[in-house]
Amino acid sequence: MRSILQFCSVAALVAGLLLSAHPLLAGSDPHLEKSWCDTDGRPINAHGGGVLFYRGVYYWYGEAKSGRTYLPDCNKSWGGTRVDLTGISCYSSTHLVDWKNEGLVLHATPDDPQSDLYPGRVLERPKVIYNRTTRKFVMWLHVDTADYAAARCGVAVSDQPGGPYKYLGSFRPDAGCWPVNATAADKIPGAKNVLERDFKTGQMARDLTVFVDDDDKAYLFYSSEENLTMHVSLLTDDYLHTSGKYARIFVGRSMEAPAVFKHGGKYYFVGSGCTAWAPNAARSAVANSPFGPWTELGNPCVGPDATNTFHAQSTFVLPVQSSPEMYIFMADRWKQWDLPASSYLWLPVEFKTNGTFQIPLVKFMNTATSL
Ligand code: GAL
Repeated sequence: MRSILQFCSVAALVAGLLLSAHPLLAGSDPHLEKSWCDTDGRPINAHGGGVLFYRGVYYWYGEAKSGRTYLPDCNKSWGGTRVDLTGISCYSSTHLVDWKNEGLVLHATPDDPQSDLYPGRVLERPKVIYNRTTRKFVMWLHVDTADYAAARCGVAVSDQPGGPYKYLGSFRPDAGCWPVNATAADKIPGAKNVLERDFKTGQMARDLTVFVDDDDKAYLFYSSEENLTMHVSLLTDDYLHTSGKYARIFVGRSMEAPAVFKHGGKYYFVGSGCTAWAPNAARSAVANSPFGPWTELGNPCVGPDATNTFHAQSTFVLPVQSSPEMYIFMADRWKQWDLPASSYLWLPVEFKTNGTFQIPLVKFMNTATSL
């Protein structure tokens, strides 16, 4: 309880706002369907997003979703809804409450049907990291065809956090390399496993996140092997490519929506199961190294509807700069039949004395009123 109150009071202090009128908190109550609006009063449009902190400013990047939601195509193997790709949005804030719309930092290219950025393609889960050596802002994205068969990662780069980002292209990671923990059986030619099947062309990459460690080494976590197994790849020093050093983690556990953070020298993971836009029980894990071994900790959510992550799916865990003990679990509440109407759920991460953590469904509005 102490940390919940601490979370709220710090948010209030930082925001300098009355908590009863706190848009962050309103957006965090799953029973309130109010939009979380930017400083122009428009609903924030940054789905599947992540946040970068740079020189006193938080930058929230996300999928800009607008227009019609297309129903599943019965003739395709993929049966989910989708919207046309419009680009990647960016919002900025100094205190995590009021967000200024910085516009699209990466745009769709409607004139080029061959481009990854053509509206009929898929561009998801943008995550931006800053490279202190090259001084570039590097965006990693899940890039796909409308049927999700391409399963690639894309990279874009900028000299400023607020863009514009130059799209460098997409690829499947770690082509021609075996993971550090591959077994002899995995490597047998024709072994009939997805890892071996994709060895030459590169591994499948769908939902992803990037994490920068204290030593400036960066890691890409991505759902691979037909979403059955997650991979973690060390990035090259410029953060623009995978290095060829990678590991299989959560083998056969079908996890996606990865979010990774570090606390007290340990690495923590939050993700979901694979049920497309429909919510499921969150997964969590802890490790002493990004490459693992990872120990699963189960569903960290506690409270009503914890079994479906309070109707949401993880996208990022945000370390609050002013308070090293405070992390915010960021999740998307997808509306699969009207994707642009999808909303957000931000909750505190509470660490427990046994080295695990939980994500409580805090009735922020109520908590705020009692403060
Ligand atoms: C989810 C994934 C989302 C999006 C969606 C498409 O499983 O987490 O990012 O790809 O599937 O249905």
